[in-house]
Amino acid sequence: MNQLSLDGASHREKPPLALTPPLGWNSWNCFRCYDINESKLLEVADALVDSGMLQAGYDTFVIDDCWQAYARGSDGRLKAHPRRFPSGMQALGAELKSRGFKFGLYGSPGRKTCAMIYDRYPGRGLGSYGREDLDAETFAAWGVDFLKYDWCEADEDGTDLKYPDAFERMALALEATGRPIVYSISEYGRTQPWAWAGEYGHMWRTTPDIEKNWASVVSIGETHAKISNHSGPGGWNDADMLQVGNPGLSSDEAATHFALWCFFAAPLMAGNDPRTMGEDIRKLLTNQRLLRINQDPLGIAASCAEIAPGVDLWTRPLVQGEAWLIVNKSEHPIDIEYRSGAISFDRRLIAPVPAQAQILPLYGESPAAISERSVWSIPSHGCLPISCREDK
Ligand code: GLA
Repeated sequence: MNQLSLDGASHREKPPLALTPPLGWNSWNCFRCYDINESKLLEVADALVDSGMLQAGYDTFVIDDCWQAYARGSDGRLKAHPRRFPSGMQALGAELKSRGFKFGLYGSPGRKTCAMIYDRYPGRGLGSYGREDLDAETFAAWGVDFLKYDWCEADEDGTDLKYPDAFERMALALEATGRPIVYSISEYGRTQPWAWAGEYGHMWRTTPDIEKNWASVVSIGETHAKISNHSGPGGWNDADMLQVGNPGLSSDEAATHFALWCFFAAPLMAGNDPRTMGEDIRKLLTNQRLLRINQDPLGIAASCAEIAPGVDLWTRPLVQGEAWLIVNKSEHPIDIEYRSGAISFDRRLIAPVPAQAQILPLYGESPAAISERSVWSIPSHGCLPISCREDK
């Protein structure tokens, strides 16, 4: 076993993957457990292609929990659920790859997956406990490129697993296959994984499961405001999968949710059904300017300062210049004033802005020079992204 350092710094070589935050789609937020099958998922994949999402960068297609047959095969290997995935996972992965996707799957370190605990999925022994090498080998043989490895009370049922060790076991097993597999660690932020998970994984969940509501977005933001310096190329704070496009968020809230995740330098796993997505959500999710901020190669997550109660300023340094995001968490609209090369709120100076600064559109098409107006209004739960680039 590797020794973890007290300062959380990485002292082992792990595969150099995910140098920018992974982008993709995950089945859980819109279909949860029983509602996935191979023909539906291929329709989703086609919709990701047709809508321009794949081209915009959402290239990792992750099939979350409940793809598994209820029991392992006589050889001990995991198998696809025979009725919902009759062609098998390897064949489905090949179909996805032929469309240009990377193939992601879900597993757990204990004896159970989370759906076995919370969704009464009637499986037996679907967790990888004691079979890490076999499962890693199976995933590699199926062409898996991304593994979400989800804690699911893995220390119960007599396993006596401990957090870093449980995740290390699968990291080593994946690495031993020789296949480059992005390794996504999920323990809901319980043990401050930002301090240790970079040793093993390429991303780690920071909070309990995101919910389809504004309060959940705000609470994840509060966590990320405290841990922005623990993320970077090859190891990202994972703010959980997007709820953009799912019922429960207004269009202003969905836009702020998306913009925040871009500023967090968080992985962006779309969690909506792209087959039925409206044009506004498509525009938001494929917003090139926000995606460029998310994927900035410096990989420095934005830091947060409260400029007034309920009003936050997130600042993210970029390879060229920096980007700001003003978020209005309050219940009423606010005005940001621009005058004499500076922005202010409620007569308090926020910061000087370069003359070239632009307000980035959320759903719309073209940016606007900040000097175009003297007042920029931000709706309740809305945000204002600003790109500040000094022209050289
Ligand atoms: C946990 C995870 C979710 C999802 C489910 C699957 O709740 O946090 O993201 O993977 O398990 O059962």
